[in-house]
Amino acid sequence: MTDLMPVLTDTWDADRSWKLAAYEAAGGYAGLRKALATEPGDLVQTVKASGLRGRGGAGFPTGMKWGFLPPPDGGPRYLVVNADESEPGTCKDIPLMLASPQHLVEGIAITSYAIGCHHAFVYVRGEVLHVYRRLLAAVQEAYDAGYLGKDVLGSGFDLDVTVHAGAGAYICGEETALLDSLEGKRGQPRLKPPFPAVAGLYARPTVVNNVESIASVPGIVAHGADWFAGMGTEKSQGHGLFSLSGHVTRPGQYEAPLGITLRELLDLAGGIRAGHELKFWTPGGSSTPLFTADHLDTPLDYESVGAAGSMLGTRALQLFDDSTCVVRAVSRWTDFYAHESCGKCTPCREGTYWLKQVLHRIEAGQGEERDVDLLLDLCDNILGRAFCALGDGATSPVTSSIQLFRDEYQAHIDGHGCPFDPSASALFP
Ligand code: NAI
Repeated sequence: MTDLMPVLTDTWDADRSWKLAAYEAAGGYAGLRKALATEPGDLVQTVKASGLRGRGGAGFPTGMKWGFLPPPDGGPRYLVVNADESEPGTCKDIPLMLASPQHLVEGIAITSYAIGCHHAFVYVRGEVLHVYRRLLAAVQEAYDAGYLGKDVLGSGFDLDVTVHAGAGAYICGEETALLDSLEGKRGQPRLKPPFPAVAGLYARPTVVNNVESIASVPGIVAHGADWFAGMGTEKSQGHGLFSLSGHVTRPGQYEAPLGITLRELLDLAGGIRAGHELKFWTPGGSSTPLFTADHLDTPLDYESVGAAGSMLGTRALQLFDDSTCVVRAVSRWTDFYAHESCGKCTPCREGTYWLKQVLHRIEAGQGEERDVDLLLDLCDNILGRAFCALGDGATSPVTSSIQLFRDEYQAHIDGHGCPFDPSASALFP
């Protein structure tokens, strides 16, 4: 964590930062007090005007998503927070919920009031039981203080929050699979449309938002849309958590305005590990096409990263130095996608398995001359044909690594083995 611009990270260094007292001491819940004295529709407008875009990876405008809810019909409508963070390299929501869970709880209370929801859910990734326990405690503290429950802060608004632990499936981070899982079914993606805004949890209108998106709402309400929109770039506004991992001197969370560059982040993080050069990196998790040192000055905002051929995604910057075999790295990611494919659609289920097999044989020195083109052909048959984003994401590291490092694939085939010493990288022994 850096103090470059602490907003979500403002209390992370405080004593017992996860306690309500630390959050209140830093001005926490001023946003909720202000929100409860505001018309719900005006709050939706404020979030629209702030320019906040979904921090789960897709960058869909948050206020616009709230605005898609149909007019009230007397039945329930839900807020579901997607806390199933699992994208390889992505590690921002979990530290946020551990260090400062009240940012999220306050954001849930404000958002629920704004959209007319009286029962909100947080779906937490199953493997992180410690986060689940911390959230349960944070929600209880908020109930005890009157920020949740009946008649929130004497406003007449009622809100219950349920924290639910998943069972550890990557696919349950896909919003409709998450909703099925929350309903007690096997988590598999639903056909969209209808989008959750129209028919979500229990087929009722539902807003599904990422943890960081919802945690950003209290600041926007407390300080105003202009404050948030004044940070970042023209179309990618506000602050965000950038997670640096891999061959970097000081890995961790760096909170910064969108549009910061990797070169600037590396200045804060002490650079690539001593004696090595940056070889390749992911701007937003392994589902985003790889970048190289040529992209050190690409502003990390949705438009610039897109124009340079990748995606901002979850701002999970995994950095790999010159000791890393790109085929081995891509093979490890592909193992993950093949393992996590839910099996619902053939292109993803069969395609990721097939990619895995071909990558394994290239890395093991048994690659055939046609294998690189075979990988590209397989990706062609997955991209745009899978039921959800998992299949598309699995192709990104394969196709981009071949574009950037085709010679390295060829060297594995020609040399009948990997030219790298796996122990030198330490990341992929
Ligand atoms: P998407 O672009 O299909 O949808 C984004 C959001 O906008 C969804 O909530 C969707 O319901 C809403 N939306 C889009 N069009 C809409 C419309 N016409 N009406 C109403 N709502 C609409 O993207 P998706 O599939 O939800 O997410 C893909 C992203 O997820 C990837 O870019 C990736 O970066 C990220 N991801 C994040 C992970 C994590 O651990 N945080 C894991 C895997 C992927």
